This record gives sequence, structure tokens and C-alpha cells, in this order.
Amino acid sequence: MKNTPRINQFASVEEASDTAARYILKTIETGLKSKDRFSVVLPGGSAPKKLNTSITSLSGVMDISRIDWFFGDERAVAPESPYSNYRMQMESLLEPLDIQPEHIYRIPGELGAPRAAGKYNLLLADYFSGPPAFDLILLGLGPDGHTASLFPGSKALFTKDVPIIETGTAPLKPYVERVTLTFPAINTAENVIFFTGRTGKETIIDYLYATTKDSPGDKIYPFESVKPKSGPAVWFVYRNNK
Ligand code: 6PG
Repeated sequence: MKNTPRINQFASVEEASDTAARYILKTIETGLKSKDRFSVVLPGGSAPKKLNTSITSLSGVMDISRIDWFFGDERAVAPESPYSNYRMQMESLLEPLDIQPEHIYRIPGELGAPRAAGKYNLLLADYFSGPPAFDLILLGLGPDGHTASLFPGSKALFTKDVPIIETGTAPLKPYVERVTLTFPAINTAENVIFFTGRTGKETIIDYLYATTKDSPGDKIYPFESVKPKSGPAVWFVYRNNK
């Protein structure tokens, strides 16, 4: 069915990380055959740290100098904060890959969510000379079905006119204001990949399996609005985090 998510499930996080990393690197390698630069949007949370271990160990095949790195969401905190998605990605991926600063496009969370969102919208408009069209977006999944910082009940779920918006204080830890990609910016990406564990998200993952046939009826969870125009999102789901 059109846009039915493609779900790959694994017993262990190691298997999921290795397979997802190889898929990601292949996607980048393929993309770089037809363009000079490749834009990747990085996720937040804790799952990416496991994925990043695999990416860094396999990255020898990747021409990293031609990749530009963005963020799908950020907390309204300083870059050195333990809550910063930028810090997590720097420590687990971008520094190990020795990515040069000019290729890293950070959301300036320290400015507060409204100003950070405004500046990132300008940055994206300049980079893309118009609305963003990312080559690859990596996403996580929250226990309430959120993705990026698009939380249930948030006004950001319905934002159509800007690619990045500030949301109020998140309903989950860390309880700080967030800045997030909106669905139009996600759904214009060429490739969208979810990487998540099942633990603590069993209901959501079971719902994902149950509704991959484009079931009728309203969407219940924010992640359901990820419907890339280019084709279905690809999921990598692992059963245990150890
Ligand atoms: C964030 C993330 C968020 C995350 C999910 C899953 O800023 O918190 O962008 O969307 O991906 O909450 O988090 P875990 O990977 O820690 O389960």
C-alpha cells in the first residue's frame, strides 16, 4: 500500500544498529552519486547513541566531507547541557567522525525556543534557497507516540507554514521548551528512517504493526503524520535495549 511504513524488527539493539547503519550509509552513498552534498537530519534522545556506534564503526565507506548535518529537534538549553541533542550527537557521532564545524548546523537552543526556531528557519531557507528538502531524516519514537518534538496535543502538529517551530514545555523529560521540525519539513525529505527500541513503547509499536494497512480513521499518535511524499518511512525496531 502506498506509504505503508516498512518495518524491520530485531531481537537486539546491536543487530538493529548494524543493519540500520548499513542502510543509512548505503542511502548516503547512493545519494552522493547524483549530488554534490547530502543533508542529514539527526534525532535526539538516547537511542541514537547506539546507532551512532555502528555508524562510526562502518563509516569508512562514507565520503563524510560531502555531508551536511542538521537537527530534527532541540531542547531550549545550552549546547553543553546534558539535555542537549547537539551535545549527544557531537559526543557519539560528529566528533568521532571528525565532522568539520562548517558542516554542522546546530539549533541554538540557548537563545530560548522562539528565537532558536526563528534563526533555524532563516538558516534552512538560506541553505535550501526556499523550503527544506532534506535528503535523509533520522527520527526516534517517544513512549507517547511523539517523534522529534512533535508531542500529542501540540500546536506544532498542525503547523504548515514553517519548517521549524517552537513548542512549549515538553510533557516528557526533560521538561523544557523544545524546537522541532514540522511535518511538512519531514514529509518533503527524500528518505525518512525511524530507529527505536520497543521497551516502554510496546503499545505504540503494536499499534504501528496493526495500522500498516493505512487503516481508516483519525490518526491517534503524532508519528502517524510522518508520510514522506517520496515513499514510506523505514523502521528499525529492536526488542531489547541490552
Ligand atoms: C528528543 C528526541 C525525541 C526522541 C524520543 C525517543 O529530543 O527527545 O528527538 O523525539 O527521539 O523521545 O527517545 P529515546 O531514544 O530516548 O527513546
